[in-house]
Amino acid sequence: MIDQQVLDAAEGYVREYFASDASGHDAHHTLRVMRLARRLAGDEGADEAVVCLAALLHDVDDAKLSPNTAEGLDNACDFLREHGVGETDAQAVLTAIREVSFSKNGGKAPSSVESACVRDADRLDAIGAIGVARAFAYGGSHDRSLHDPDGTDAQTTTAHFHDKLLLLKDMMCTRAGRRIAERRDAVTREFLREFLAEWDGAR
Ligand code: ADP
Ligand code: NI
Repeated sequence: MIDQQVLDAAEGYVREYFASDASGHDAHHTLRVMRLARRLAGDEGADEAVVCLAALLHDVDDAKLSPNTAEGLDNACDFLREHGVGETDAQAVLTAIREVSFSKNGGKAPSSVESACVRDADRLDAIGAIGVARAFAYGGSHDRSLHDPDGTDAQTTTAHFHDKLLLLKDMMCTRAGRRIAERRDAVTREFLREFLAEWDGAR
């Protein structure tokens, strides 16, 4: 059993951990993923505390932010040990964190319903209005162009929509995730349609 005190401590930990990050992996991303994952957990009958704790800790060992701890999930492990989380719950949390990654687990189904909730929530935060905003924030911070009508520059932000964001709807693992993804995907596509029409001077 994971009590509320541990979840509150995890929230405090991530707020501090991400305090200086502006790359799209900030504390607010983590907190949105936690709220959405909790909603999915309610729908799926998953263990909400495991889902919330995994969501809160899902990026603290991200390879881009913390390359030295990514392999062993050292930061998450330390947190779980320091807060006395029992072995079974700790393993469930670590499994869910390992199974979140888009690049590492693209093809594989999550091994638990808790994993599925966290993975769907993380992916859902990359689409819809928030996802569009995050993509352009990422593009800006990496000096990328908004768009290249010739398609010569494969590194533009609109290219990322086709490479990744528009594929996410069909990669949901929970029922509620699929429903939410339908709406967010429609918002993403509508944005792209407007963007391209404005680009061409048609609107
Ligand atoms: P994940 O949480 O799956 O590891 P990433 O670290 O790949 O996600 O990306 C974090 C955010 O930055 C996401 O919203 C993603 O869409 C956005 N992003 C990643 N790569 C690009 C890119 N090449 N262009 C625009 N946005 C990107
Ligand atoms: Ni994430």
